Amino acid sequence: MVGAAERVLRGNWIEGERDGVPYAYTRPSPGRYPWQWYWDSCFAAIVWRRFDPARSRAELGSLLAAQRDDGFVGHTIFWHRPVSLGRLAFYNVASRRALQTETIQPPLLAWAWRIAVGDPAAEPRIVAQADWLVANRDLEGDGLLWIVQPDESGLDASPKFDPVWGRRAAARIGFPLLVRRNRRLGFDARRVRESGGLVLCETLVNTMWSLSLQALGRPSATPALVERLWDEQRGLFLDEVQPGGERPAVLTWAALAPLALPDLPERIGRRLVEEHLLSEREFLTPVSPPSVAVSEPSYEPGGGRGPMRRYWRGPTWVNAAWLVWLGMRRLGYEEEAGRLARGLIGVVEREGLREYYDPRSGTGLGAEDFAWSALIAELVDP
Ligand code: GLC
Repeated sequence: MVGAAERVLRGNWIEGERDGVPYAYTRPSPGRYPWQWYWDSCFAAIVWRRFDPARSRAELGSLLAAQRDDGFVGHTIFWHRPVSLGRLAFYNVASRRALQTETIQPPLLAWAWRIAVGDPAAEPRIVAQADWLVANRDLEGDGLLWIVQPDESGLDASPKFDPVWGRRAAARIGFPLLVRRNRRLGFDARRVRESGGLVLCETLVNTMWSLSLQALGRPSATPALVERLWDEQRGLFLDEVQPGGERPAVLTWAALAPLALPDLPERIGRRLVEEHLLSEREFLTPVSPPSVAVSEPSYEPGGGRGPMRRYWRGPTWVNAAWLVWLGMRRLGYEEEAGRLARGLIGVVEREGLREYYDPRSGTGLGAEDFAWSALIAELVDP
């Protein structure tokens, strides 16, 4: 199993040079995803530390090599070839020749660095990226970040974004209009907001952000996350949309993601586990946790139909399983955590490292040789 993880990471590794800048990273899946994706790289780097720690540093170092002078690091870096024409309308680039997108992905770089490389506070470029996020995305000054598009969360077409962006949500017909509008505004969150666009304080992004802040030795964002997004009545974290302050209540695994936070109040963690993660009506499936609760009308465990790939609408992803499993173990749910791990390990053994899995049968779906599914090694050998 751990051997399969290593084999995929090695097979997906690519090295090269662009305009004199060397790069090296793990392609999420060589056929389908050739470029460097920010959060995929962070997960890959975490697993690389087991096999070849120099590659953890090189992988994250390549993200930093793409950093703009102002500290920004994009969602996707197009190292060796520009974004294809067919994808241009869906990719958040300023121009076809751009090195990277103008949008972000969940900011877990500092946390990944801490796990796989060393002290992120000693790397000025990581500090500069954190400063960029504070300056540009902490719109309300409470330490939480806001996103301008659903794909900035990494959870592209999750149904939790349907009530927010409607027909302009990712993988919907109007998504290119959202991209075009934000492109005109320079993907600048303040400008988006000022011109009447929507911004979202999203749970997963802020969970990753809080982990990174703590890795940097800065004050944690967890108290602000609880203050702003915890819904005491439902026992869940719910995003907030501005303007309007709406709190869409579509139940997805992201509502449970704060379980990964070591400083999450224990009472809250227990409610997430006992009322949701271990509920058969919601997230307790044979291969758990599904990306969308079984109780949701939008739950599509088979990965959806039709020509358009719609991610995060039901199937189980290994990174999500790992993050909630961290919380289950921290809170002492050893047996239940073991059951979750065994369910997924068996399926990955049988089906290989796929992009995601049917939460009922474990059938492997989406891309093959998918890099971050190598996180299964964390579940096998914590
Ligand atoms: C899909 C996923 C996103 C991931 C990317 C590359 O767009 O939704 O989270 O980063 O693929 O694997």
